[in-house]
Amino acid sequence: MLIKKPSDMRYSEVTPKYLYMNRRNFLAGAAAAAGAAALVGRSAGDWLEPRSVQAGGAKLENLVKSPFSTPEKYTSYDAITHYNNYYEFSTSKDGPAVKAQNFKTNPWTVSVEGEVSKPEKFDIASLMKLAPLEERIYRHRCVEGWSIVVPWVGYSLSVLINRVQPTSKAKFVEFTTDLDPKQMPGLREGGLDWPYTEGLRLDEAMHPLTLLCFGLYGEVLPNQNGAPLRTVIPWKYGFKCTKSMVKVRFTEKQPATAWNKANPTEYGFYSNVNPTVDHPRWSQATERRLGEFSKRKTLMFNGYDQVASLYTGMDLRKNF
Ligand code: MTE
Repeated sequence: MLIKKPSDMRYSEVTPKYLYMNRRNFLAGAAAAAGAAALVGRSAGDWLEPRSVQAGGAKLENLVKSPFSTPEKYTSYDAITHYNNYYEFSTSKDGPAVKAQNFKTNPWTVSVEGEVSKPEKFDIASLMKLAPLEERIYRHRCVEGWSIVVPWVGYSLSVLINRVQPTSKAKFVEFTTDLDPKQMPGLREGGLDWPYTEGLRLDEAMHPLTLLCFGLYGEVLPNQNGAPLRTVIPWKYGFKCTKSMVKVRFTEKQPATAWNKANPTEYGFYSNVNPTVDHPRWSQATERRLGEFSKRKTLMFNGYDQVASLYTGMDLRKNF
């Protein structure tokens, strides 16, 4: 995130090779693909890449459809799982898919603590059972200028928050990623002040769009996407999501966050997607959806207008 300006990048740099190679194949065989797609009601673009490159995670059954889902065509499984930011494993985009392959996510304990009346430790299986699992198709916008549409699986974080009952002192929530130098080769490269932490204001965390996420594409999360659980906050830049979480802590004071500590002038606490507030080194007005050639306009709050009331009266240029 610190190094290159997306507008300086060539298309081949922001798009995995197999995507643009496959586009050539696609153009050659477009008619056949369109015919096949029509048979199952999916658009031709969905057939750009075979789904099988890394699929094979355990299926998540009985998923409930969500009214929050965007009707947009979602990004291919292969792009979502091979173009990642997960610095604990690698700072290259295709590194986490390889280097996180053997990351052990079972057993796994998540501690929910701090300013709550009922602190609790959960194993993943019991945490997944707190509410029906929904499929939520969200837009996901990275601060670097690329975006994807992902069919995530999970339920609103508010379910967990209500269960542990925040005290009147709780104003913020801090999320912490696992820290395991034996399994995470990227830690040796330095970079951030580990473990990776992120934070939200309590009302942001309680918003029904804020997702406690266990899967994507109907399967458990691949390791490179943050197995066994992560947050997804679709109106904020992607770095606000915390992968492979081990701790959720309720606090009175605004928690420090990993990217803000590393570079406070570039990565703010709020980091709401905002096309009118540029990153100091590049414009945020447009984005490139992985797998597409032309850029599209970035929308305020990534198009999730229902969160605007959380920020009434706030100067979003100051609170970037
Ligand atoms: N969480 C941890 N622990 N480590 C990371 O490096 N990267 C963040 C976020 N969460 C990151 C993380 C960034 S910059 C982005 S854009 C998203 O994860 C990427 O999520 P994805 O790989 O599932 O698209």
